[in-house]
Amino acid sequence: MSDDPDMGHPVFSGFRLVRMSDLILERTVAESQSERSEIIFPADANALGNLFGGRLMQYIDLVGAMAASRHARAITVTASMDHLDFVAPVRVGDLLILKASVNRAYRTSMEVGVKAMVEDVRKNRLRHVSSAYLTYVAVDKDGHGLVVPQVVPETEHQKRRYEDAARRREMRGDETLRKKEMRAALPDGWHI
Ligand SMILES: CC(C)(COP(=O)(O)OP(=O)(O)OC[C@H]1O[C@@H](n2cnc3c(N)ncnc32)[C@H](O)[C@@H]1OP(=O)(O)O)[C@@H](O)C(=O)NCCC(=O)NCCS
Repeated sequence: MSDDPDMGHPVFSGFRLVRMSDLILERTVAESQSERSEIIFPADANALGNLFGGRLMQYIDLVGAMAASRHARAITVTASMDHLDFVAPVRVGDLLILKASVNRAYRTSMEVGVKAMVEDVRKNRLRHVSSAYLTYVAVDKDGHGLVVPQVVPETEHQKRRYEDAARRREMRGDETLRKKEMRAALPDGWHI
């Protein structure tokens, strides 16, 4: 039980004592939308002077995790990254802008969409360079899944992404199940 007046009154939910302030059942997309920007340095480039794909994936994962953790108000782990498209190269010196939104939430997982753009500061224009969908799972400090709030899409774009996310989850579900069954059939521990 907390003495902090901002924490609200504790109530019983199942067998766990929780605070009223923890009982958030839904959140808007805007509440967790996240952005990150980077200037690309030579250390992140390949021999052609373009940003390494792996470094871009790292930035995508980080901004996606920000949005998922803000939505869940919890630690999140990346369960999968799919539909990663490298649309155009990012060059040394470019200003890279990444934006992430939670498209849809399920029980413990959330689909996050990330869009990466390069900003031409002189012309004040954005060029789309990459897009990805990632799934994050909210976990407690012991790694156990936590139930997350549902997403309330408000704009037309958010509603479309909310519907599309359901279709992607369906496709992903079969694949995840198939891989789980394959892993279960293999002997314990290390294997290739
Ligand atoms: C992701 C992880 C927590 C899932 O654990 P699990 O025991 O397989 O969990 P479950 O089968 O109970 O599924 C939990 C949720 O994860 C989702 N999930 C599991 N594997 C998934 C995958 N490959 N892609 C998308 N979602 C996935 C399930 O759909 C479920 O979502 P829901 O609760 O909203 O319905 C677990 O595999 C893990 O910890 N992986 C490592 C994560 C990590 O370290 N990431 C950083 C990369 S180094």
